[in-house]
Amino acid sequence: MTGLAVVPRGSAIRVFPDALAAARAGAASFAEQAERAVRERGRFGVALSGGSTPRAMYSLLAEEPLRSRIPWHATHLFWGDERCVGPLHPRSNFRMAADAFVSRVPIPPSNVHRMRGELPPEMGAREYEAQLAEFFGPGVPRFDLVHLGLGGDGHTASLFPFDLPVLTEREHNVAVARFRELVEFRLTLAVPVLNAATRVEFLVVGAAKASVVRAVLAGPRDPFRLPAQLVRPAQQDPVWMLDSPAATGLAALP
Ligand code: 6PG
Repeated sequence: MTGLAVVPRGSAIRVFPDALAAARAGAASFAEQAERAVRERGRFGVALSGGSTPRAMYSLLAEEPLRSRIPWHATHLFWGDERCVGPLHPRSNFRMAADAFVSRVPIPPSNVHRMRGELPPEMGAREYEAQLAEFFGPGVPRFDLVHLGLGGDGHTASLFPFDLPVLTEREHNVAVARFRELVEFRLTLAVPVLNAATRVEFLVVGAAKASVVRAVLAGPRDPFRLPAQLVRPAQQDPVWMLDSPAATGLAALP
């Protein structure tokens, strides 16, 4: 199943033959959003996702033609979430992006706005809110693009099932996920920040994600069990970039 398929929830779905094609589409969209934002507003503020899926897409940002096309001087990298570890830790989302592209492109260091996972979690969350306010001004930051993944349990960023203090956070722009199953605490953008974005893109690949993709996109609305369902940007429906294996659960939809 390839091409554009729209599911009942209204999210726009783009299905690609394989993971590399989906990564290519994600990278091309990143470049397109960056060019548009810089053309229209003079800068591009993007929140990156972590985990393993984005690595292939991020690597393409550091390769031609995209490397020369993206306006790195006006591109500002933020993170949607970060594990509470240092920047060199193998589980750091910053480390993954730095290895994949940030260290390989001409972006000014001052344009890289890292979540400081090495700080005590609450301090790290408040410090990142200060970074967001410095760039976006007061209130809820409005990213040009928020890039997200999807966990097998329906989490996105570090919005985990039934972690109600985080899922219902409305006072702070950055929350601390600290429930017991986590290997380490995590910092995450709160739901209102994700939903204030001009554009949200999910990149999900692999047959192992097929059932959760179907549950999130075509199953009953149950957002505390499937936090990815909380992502409903006011500006436009999220764009889901899937490879065929991850989309098989949608193929049978009427
Ligand atoms: C993280 C991510 C997380 C990720 C999903 C999917 O910090 O791990 O922000 O939300 O996107 O867990 O991870 P994979 O791409 O590794 O399947």
